[in-house]
Amino acid sequence: MNAIVIDQYGSPEVLQTRRISTPLVEDDEVLVKVRAASLNPVDYKIRRGDLKKVLPIHFPKVLGYDIAGEIVGVGAKVRKFKAGDEVFAMLSTTEMGGYGGYVAVSEENVAIKPINLSFEEAAALPLAGLTALQALRDKGHLTERNQQVLINGASGGVGHLAIQIALARGASVVGVCGTEHVEMVRNLGADAVIDYHRQDFTQLSAQYDIVFDAVGKSSYPECKSILHEHGRFVTTGVSPEIFFQIGLSIFTKKKARLVSVSPKGEDLALLANYAEENQLKPVIENIYRPEEIPRAHQHLESEHVAGKLVLSMEDAGD
Ligand SMILES: NC(=O)c1ccc[n+]([C@@H]2O[C@H](COP(=O)([O-])OP(=O)(O)OC[C@H]3O[C@@H](n4cnc5c(N)ncnc54)[C@H](OP(=O)(O)O)[C@@H]3O)[C@@H](O)[C@H]2O)c1
Repeated sequence: MNAIVIDQYGSPEVLQTRRISTPLVEDDEVLVKVRAASLNPVDYKIRRGDLKKVLPIHFPKVLGYDIAGEIVGVGAKVRKFKAGDEVFAMLSTTEMGGYGGYVAVSEENVAIKPINLSFEEAAALPLAGLTALQALRDKGHLTERNQQVLINGASGGVGHLAIQIALARGASVVGVCGTEHVEMVRNLGADAVIDYHRQDFTQLSAQYDIVFDAVGKSSYPECKSILHEHGRFVTTGVSPEIFFQIGLSIFTKKKARLVSVSPKGEDLALLANYAEENQLKPVIENIYRPEEIPRAHQHLESEHVAGKLVLSMEDAGD
């Protein structure tokens, strides 16, 4: 199959398209012909070698966690899916492989693609959408009652999906983003939008049940005063401080939490329901072809993408 492969850590130019063998399926896996993949910041962090101590990889490696495509083969013990199903998935944290023409994935990590989303749109959902859902629901304790939620990084891959998920669960939502993306976040349905170039959200007088920092740019101590008595600060940002703060907040009513996304077909099916009920739709800033992958990585590394960047694998060939 054709795949985008890296043979070493380095700049975007280490991403090379070439032929490698098509993966074989284990008993509990399905083989998916990838129609679209999406990019996440973790992809360039792995490519640069930033994560080599916590997530070592063996070269050659096919990066990419998010895919949408069609099942073309199933392992002997697969029960939930069959050849021909159109699906989307987040791939395993250690295996990856989304930038390939085909990928083998555990059936537990797969869900049927929402009928009203294209392959490109469906591929934009898994890692960012699961992060948003697991952060708000599992770490933030977002319920179905009218909670007050503030989302920092509201225009990014995770943040723009978090806005929509919080709204779908009945919350009042304030989004924080840069000047260029205020209109976008308003159009997603946020009740109020704060431009971080004009106002520091950590100095607000309002208080929130959940402050979700989807871009990990603030800290629990900075956000404590804008949390309700039992409020929860949830971040995507891994730092030594956050582990200390999580530990300390055992003794306080206000809590600090770190989300660590995990692939889960059941949660993807929930995201698919939101999409089919028109409550969740990814914003795609650009769709790239496989040969444009170095440019796509450079674009994502700017840290100012609105929504998601997607890789169309339609022309990747077999
Ligand atoms: N822990 C986990 O399990 C987990 C899971 C997923 C992601 N992450 C991490 O979470 C981060 C965000 O992921 P993502 O996919 O949302 O990234 P992304 O799409 O690249 O984020 C881009 C967004 O960041 C916003 N941004 C940049 N600087 C900002 C600032 N100072 N304040 C507020 N917003 C700012 C930009 O908004 P403007 O252009 O409007 O400024 C842009 O829309 C990444 O570091 C990623 O690695 C962690």
